Amino acid sequence: MKHLFQKGKDPLKPILLLLHGTGGNELDLLPLAGKINEEASILSVRGNILENGMPRFFRRLAEGIFDEEDLVFRTKELYQFLNEAAEKYEFERKNIVAVGYSNGANIAASLMFHYQDALKGAILHHPMVPRRGIDLPDLSGKYVFIGAGTNDPICSAQESEELETILVNAGAKVELHWENRGHQLTFEEVNAAAQWFKNIF
Ligand code: MLT
Repeated sequence: MKHLFQKGKDPLKPILLLLHGTGGNELDLLPLAGKINEEASILSVRGNILENGMPRFFRRLAEGIFDEEDLVFRTKELYQFLNEAAEKYEFERKNIVAVGYSNGANIAASLMFHYQDALKGAILHHPMVPRRGIDLPDLSGKYVFIGAGTNDPICSAQESEELETILVNAGAKVELHWENRGHQLTFEEVNAAAQWFKNIF
């Protein structure tokens, strides 16, 4: 997968896996990584799907309606890419924390829905429930921050709460953070995520 890797000064800090939103690329979320931790290594990946020229991490049939078969395939592809990247760049495979926005948050959530050992934790900015009706792996010991908007037209408040419940039921420790805004990523939300990361890692 197209990506960039920046080795950080502190090898013990989690590797920040940056996953952009629809139409973005691997450069978009670099400023977030700096706010979360300046010394952490960064692995930033570009989604392999193009929707009308816009990169994404998996196909969708319509806004908010995912192509489930492709979601499962792309989740596995990203999972395998993480395994390969850990070997190539010689970082601790078990020490990855995802930072995703929108479509990137959805594939990060999908990694946790499908693989017990994909991520140590995740900052999910405006995620949806990636898939319903499946058993999740045991996510005890995993930490998740969900940034949600009370007026988010893409991901309803109810869906944000549903995602929280699913992850908590699988054993994850989840912080659900609200902004009285829509789907956009605000400074306040980024700062709240950075503070959450500092408290845990
Ligand atoms: C998705 O397709 O993943 C969500 O609708 C968010 C987005 O528009 O990227």
